[in-house]
Amino acid sequence: MSNKRNSRPAPGHESNVPVSLAATSEGAGDAHQGARADGARAANAVEPVDLRRVLGQFVTGVTIVTARGVDGAPVGLTVNSFASVSLDPPLVLWSVARTAASFAAFRSCPRFRVHVLAADQLALAQKFAVRGGDKFDRDAVGDLPVIDGCVAWFECDNREQYDEGDHVILIGRVVAFASTGGAPLVFHDGRYVTEIVGKPSPAELRDSLS
Ligand SMILES: Cc1cc2nc3c(=O)[nH]c(=O)nc-3n(C[C@H](O)[C@H](O)[C@H](O)COP(=O)(O)O)c2cc1C
Repeated sequence: MSNKRNSRPAPGHESNVPVSLAATSEGAGDAHQGARADGARAANAVEPVDLRRVLGQFVTGVTIVTARGVDGAPVGLTVNSFASVSLDPPLVLWSVARTAASFAAFRSCPRFRVHVLAADQLALAQKFAVRGGDKFDRDAVGDLPVIDGCVAWFECDNREQYDEGDHVILIGRVVAFASTGGAPLVFHDGRYVTEIVGKPSPAELRDSLS
């Protein structure tokens, strides 16, 4: 992956303070808590902003998840918590923040659509990361609002929900899906990455997975 970066860092990503959760197992004694010599901090001092920065070292793709609210209005937000769960049955997951304007809509919608964004859809990712408002350029027609030009999409039944902390995990059962195989938009360390160097060919990818 190249270092080409295309947007400003998200708040809280500027510092380089080491944070270690090595001493966070339950029952860790006092000796393991508080500041460590290397500047790391223990579980009792976890700051959400630090945790987000360190979680940001895990590279993800970027998706927009869409649905319709009870009033039929289209909703959508930028999401990178998307992950696969099971192939048989076909299940995926993502988590929605309780504070999201679209939270109620996603809790109650029968279906949602996950769009895996292409490298040239950075502006769209930024647009759908803004709270509330009408994010759709044209009237979203059909059952589910569709984002054109993405590299893959999954239509899912809203099958199960799990309340966890400040988010709710949604499990979707995939009922339809497709991909175009284009270059994906990537998110790392609070920044979008639009160029991946050394992308393996489909044959190399097949070999590495077999
Ligand atoms: C790269 C990226 C990934 C995000 N991932 C999630 C996510 O997985 N879940 C979530 O609830 N919000 C996520 N957000 C934040 C939402 O996109 C943002 O809060 C948005 O304003 C929510 O839209 P809404 O308030 O209109 O529902 C992410 C934002 C960015 C930039």
